[in-house]
Amino acid sequence: MTIPRIVIMAAAILAGLLLVFHVAPKGGDSGNQAGENLRAPSEWTRPIGLSSSAACRECHAEVYDEWSASHHRLAYVNPEVQRLSNGFQDRDCLPCHLPRPIWETGLGERPLERATQTSDGVDCFTCHHDPHGNTMLGAGPVSAAAKSAPCQPTASALISDMRLCAPCHNQHKTHDDWAQTEYAAAGPGYRDCNDCHMPKVTRRDGSAGRSHRAPGAHDAEFLRTATTFSVESAGPRTLLVTIRNAGTGHHFPADERHRAADLELLATRADGEVARLRIARFRNPYRQEFELRNPLRTPGATYEETREIEGQGALAILALRVAASFQPDRKNPYPESTQIPAGEARVYTLRFPEATREVCLRFYYRTQPFQSDDDAVLLHEFRTNLD
Ligand code: HEC
Ligand code: HEC
Ligand code: HEC
Ligand code: HEC
Ligand code: HEC
Repeated sequence: MTIPRIVIMAAAILAGLLLVFHVAPKGGDSGNQAGENLRAPSEWTRPIGLSSSAACRECHAEVYDEWSASHHRLAYVNPEVQRLSNGFQDRDCLPCHLPRPIWETGLGERPLERATQTSDGVDCFTCHHDPHGNTMLGAGPVSAAAKSAPCQPTASALISDMRLCAPCHNQHKTHDDWAQTEYAAAGPGYRDCNDCHMPKVTRRDGSAGRSHRAPGAHDAEFLRTATTFSVESAGPRTLLVTIRNAGTGHHFPADERHRAADLELLATRADGEVARLRIARFRNPYRQEFELRNPLRTPGATYEETREIEGQGALAILALRVAASFQPDRKNPYPESTQIPAGEARVYTLRFPEATREVCLRFYYRTQPFQSDDDAVLLHEFRTNLD
């Protein structure tokens, strides 16, 4: 007895369908709550024909140019990262520096690594492409033009969720820090990562957009918004220096543990001789730097010390850690970190020796602790004559 050909074909198609449904990733897999909420864009029948971020430029030129100038694009080719990862022989570095789409593993989950388009680092697909629905997620609203757009956009509130940034950016607790600040509390003062790092812009066609330049540690102008710096007289030969984290939505300096901010003194004698002294360093030291201690471990803590200004005499320092007005007793996973939490201040009372004539106080930001003053960003400066 021969089986009719039509039956064999039907069985084959059925088996094929079963296989497809069996292997197709389901929204609920790997803790992907996001997938369950996504609208399946049933009207899309074609797969996305766009294979690289460069293909987005044709229609999203402004966004593309912003992203091109960002450290997101640099993430893989960045010489600093190449050096520290041994040219990515350390494969643990790949998932965040050369990622596949976040939506593949799910919102809040670490992405998988990709192997292609290395010069695109954290590319458009990383944040926008939902491979399950074969769509680009945007905040919307999408216009009628979206229907025929090759990127197949779907409006979803999930693209604006801070869990999009967290899998990569909470490595050094930036997200956890932010969650404990007043910026994260509902109300008029609410500001999330994007309000500061993807500020609102108006596109050439008048539509509302978000800058993709992602300013951070490599943008001097942006860095200057992080802290306020004020110096006032507090008696004879005495200055009161206040540094406040007034503009950062998390600890300052943030994230990367090799960032450092330094309060430096240049003291000049009557004969013109200049001496230099570092008064304080703000930084989250690496674990192996066990000799580094945080002398101001709790809000309200103080310390006093005397330091020698070379050739001029003793400088008396009184340091005070001023609590933040919002949630002053925040949890800190790094007790030896001297970073300044959001809203907190550090106050230094400095009493200068007789020999010091001129004082210059400088507040520097360094992307790594050994960076020279010339390569560092001068955030704030104050000069005065003590006589
Ligand atoms: C897939 C991982 C990943 C995701 C998701 C991600 N980032 Fe990043 N981001 C990085 C990496 C890696 C760098 C650093 C690249 C470099 O400097 O080589 C970076 C750098 C940055 C910087 C610092 C730029 C600088 O010059 O100092 C900011 C700000 C930033 N990201 C904001 C965000 C925000 C906001 C989100 C969420 C909307 C986000 N990122 C999502 C991986 C990611
Ligand atoms: C969990 C995600 C993640 C992993 C894994 C990761 N990074 Fe990063 N890396 C980031 C993010 C996010 C930034 C941006 C934050 C910042 O600049 O402070 C960054 C920034 C950097 C920077 C600073 C770049 C610059 O120009 O300032 C270097 C260097 C770096 N990473 C090296 C590495 C190396 C080496 C590895 C592997 C040992 C690695 N990273 C693994 C997320 C990650
Ligand atoms: C041929 C033109 C074209 C190309 C190429 C293109 N797009 Fe689009 N894209 C559009 C149009 C048109 C819309 C709808 C705009 C609207 O609704 O106002 C859109 C919308 C979007 C949205 C939604 C914006 C929002 O606010 O909801 C995202 C995200 C997006 N595109 C990402 C991409 C990415 C990423 C690429 C490259 C992989 C890409 N697009 C390539 C034309 C294009
Ligand atoms: C109120 C504004 C504000 C908010 C909210 C905010 N940031 Fe920042 N962020 C800053 C400023 C200012 C700097 C520069 C000073 C510094 O590095 O601490 C910065 C620096 C950074 C850097 C660069 C660190 C480095 O070493 O390269 C990263 C990455 C970053 N923020 C990520 C985030 C993430 C992720 C969120 C949300 C969880 C967030 N920021 C929320 C203002 C903000
Ligand atoms: C680090 C994550 C990230 C990367 C990388 C990224 N985007 Fe976005 N994109 C977002 C977020 C977040 C929004 C804003 C959502 C909102 O409005 O709340 C957005 C908004 C958009 C919009 C609509 C608003 C606007 O600014 O015009 C378009 C179009 C878009 N992205 C395209 C792209 C393209 C093209 C690339 C690559 C060149 C890209 N994005 C790379 C996260 C990202």
